[in-house]
Amino acid sequence: MAKGIFITMEGPDGSGKTTQIELLKAELEKSGYSVLITREPGGNRISEAIREIILNKDYMEMAPATECLLYASARAQLVNEVIGPMLDKGGAVISDRFVDSSLVYQGIARGLGVDEVFEINRFAIREYMPDATFLLSLPAEVGISRKKDQKELDRMEKESLEFHKKVAEGYLKLAEKYPERIRVIDATQDVETISGLIKKQVYDILKGKVSI
Ligand code: TYD
Repeated sequence: MAKGIFITMEGPDGSGKTTQIELLKAELEKSGYSVLITREPGGNRISEAIREIILNKDYMEMAPATECLLYASARAQLVNEVIGPMLDKGGAVISDRFVDSSLVYQGIARGLGVDEVFEINRFAIREYMPDATFLLSLPAEVGISRKKDQKELDRMEKESLEFHKKVAEGYLKLAEKYPERIRVIDATQDVETISGLIKKQVYDILKGKVSI
């Protein structure tokens, strides 16, 4: 069992995860933790190379199973090289997306099945499941329109609105399946309110790691 604390931030594209991760990092550092932020897919040389393949919009014909296995491969490398060692030495890891992204995007939105995708990922992540996962919940239309304003869309973001609706709803279904681990936060609230809610829950977890 890893000694550190592992928190993951999930949500549809454009839900504001990055901002909240930075705020939580600063807060945990104030509590004396050494904090590492990782992003998925990516976070090390090999996983970044896999990311280039997965998100490349020239590969629109990619099969759902290929996509699922590539995300799991990128995750296996990240756990092996970065997340596992940090947790083993008692540090804090905050990951921008983790296994729940695969359960929702590939398991629900692509239709591969949550349990099937979890099986594949169990092999990739071994015992390193998050202590807590924050779901920044947002209607699909809002998330994608925020993204469009920021940058050119990648292969996943170019998917239909219907796909992104399945993602947004799929996350809520997943939160019902894992109510102790996944905490739902309404991401339409302002940045300070969201960050206050996250901080409070993280402190509850740190106070004994009992409520998870
Ligand atoms: P990224 O640019 O990191 O998106 P975001 O800023 O929204 O996190 O791209 C990651 C994309 O990959 C995003 O559309 C979600 C998708 N994804 C999956 O489909 N499955 C996964 O397991 C992961 C980690 C991400």
